[in-house]
Amino acid sequence: MRSIAVIAVTGKGGTGKTIFASMLILHLCRKGSLLAVDADPDSNLPEALGVEEVEKTLGDVKEVFQHTRDEIRGDKSIWFEAKVFEVINELEDFDLLVMGRPEGEGCYCYTNNLLRGILRKFMKHYDFVVVDCEAGLEHFSRKTIDKADCVVVVSDTSKKGLKTAERISELMENLGINARKAIVGNKITDAKAEEMIENFASRAGFEFLGALPYDNMVVENEMAGKSVRDLPECEFKRNFKEVLKKFESWCLS
Ligand SMILES: Nc1ncnc2c1ncn2[C@@H]1O[C@H](COP(=O)(O)OP(=O)(O)OP(=O)(O)O)[C@@H](O)[C@H]1O
Ligand SMILES: [Mg+2]
Repeated sequence: MRSIAVIAVTGKGGTGKTIFASMLILHLCRKGSLLAVDADPDSNLPEALGVEEVEKTLGDVKEVFQHTRDEIRGDKSIWFEAKVFEVINELEDFDLLVMGRPEGEGCYCYTNNLLRGILRKFMKHYDFVVVDCEAGLEHFSRKTIDKADCVVVVSDTSKKGLKTAERISELMENLGINARKAIVGNKITDAKAEEMIENFASRAGFEFLGALPYDNMVVENEMAGKSVRDLPECEFKRNFKEVLKKFESWCLS
């Protein structure tokens, strides 16, 4: 059986989770087969990756299953699995699954339990799975994704950013997610800020992957409606290469 690396990227809102996840995806997909998972109902991973609008999401399929499962004839899990397969977008260099909207009212335990098994099975087809999460780790807390090897928290230097990192760490412990955890600084403007995150990391038991600078090129690229593929050579990109080196020796070794 293949050994896959499931990498979850999380952190406080607006810290740069999606840009980090998309840069990582574009790098890792050259090394092996990769499933990119957009697990933030409000997120824009497809756009960041330059993927045209994704029409159907896993959330849509999940809702249909939740509300019509009693009418499905035969093996419900086979029906569900086929539908999940349909919403995996096969792109040129990686596959993309968009989780989509959050759950509605009612108990989703049965649906989520089935889904967990299905996702686990699908993930086995890839060398890498990169999940762009929202801060609350919703899909982990609901256990639709129950495995991660590495959790990367993206943080700016705000107290809230580091507080979120602490909460994620606690949540991982409570959920029994036995993953390695690292932190990367983003939108960093000076050496003092970098030092602050590095100190936090060593106190809180996170690997420190380095710091990415605040860079206007990132803002301009996004404002021009371009994806991270089009990001020109810039300070952010140069530092990202350094972060990647650390990431690889930490997560993939
Ligand atoms: N290093 C940087 N320098 C300048 N701007 C940045 C940098 N990193 C990210 N940004 C900008 O900050 C905004 C938030 O980035 P991004 O969407 O990656 O964060 P996020 O954590 O995924 O946000 P959300 O919580 O909304 O999903 C974007 O407009 C992005 O272009
Ligand atoms: Mg995002």
